Amino acid sequence: MQRRGHFISFEGGEGAGKSTQARLLKAALEGRGHRVTLTREPGGSPGAEEIRKLLVEGEPERWTPLSETLLFLAARVDHVARVIEPALAKGDWVISDRFSDSTYVYQGVARGVGVDTVDGLQKAALGEFAPDLTLVLDLDPREGLKRAGARGGAHENRFERFDDAFHTRLRKAFRDIAAANPKRCVLIDAGRAAEDIAADVWRAVEKRLQP
Ligand code: TYD
Repeated sequence: MQRRGHFISFEGGEGAGKSTQARLLKAALEGRGHRVTLTREPGGSPGAEEIRKLLVEGEPERWTPLSETLLFLAARVDHVARVIEPALAKGDWVISDRFSDSTYVYQGVARGVGVDTVDGLQKAALGEFAPDLTLVLDLDPREGLKRAGARGGAHENRFERFDDAFHTRLRKAFRDIAAANPKRCVLIDAGRAAEDIAADVWRAVEKRLQP
């Protein structure tokens, strides 16, 4: 499908402020007169939101790492086909709160499926489809989990309940992805006030995508 719009993803560990930054960026782009589709993963389309419930609810060990990976990819294929590609084809900007990098990091590295296995599955499912720009929000996982916890118990998801070593692996893996993909990714220090983070986000978007 012809892509006319721009696709931006936010990535990072728990409580890094992705949702807040995604909303602020949407408002900034709309302020420039752009149409913006704001979406999230897992979820973002009706089918993928159904799959999301299977993934974020219940006990940490509810799924084997590989079945979990396949569920994330099933959700993503639906999300891309039904929401993201049609929006890009219309010329919208699309902002997704998480996308493929989360699968490389959470399932590939932290859950131990292996990055090569995730890469093979991801390519089989989606080919080379990828964001134009990925903003990786980097935060000490202890700080992030504290913030995520402050959102309230009802919002706790399966992944917040894995141990500290799991969350430390996440941070390193996100930083490694940012370092290995400098054309697509910008690493942003998320241990600051939301407006300072938003200013860095906007600078990156201006520089890379000329909104
Ligand atoms: P969510 O409540 O959206 O968490 P957050 O606010 O931290 O983004 O729950 C999504 C969870 O799913 C989150 O813990 C990360 C995890 N996840 C994966 O493990 N793999 C993936 O591919 C994606 C998209 C998310």
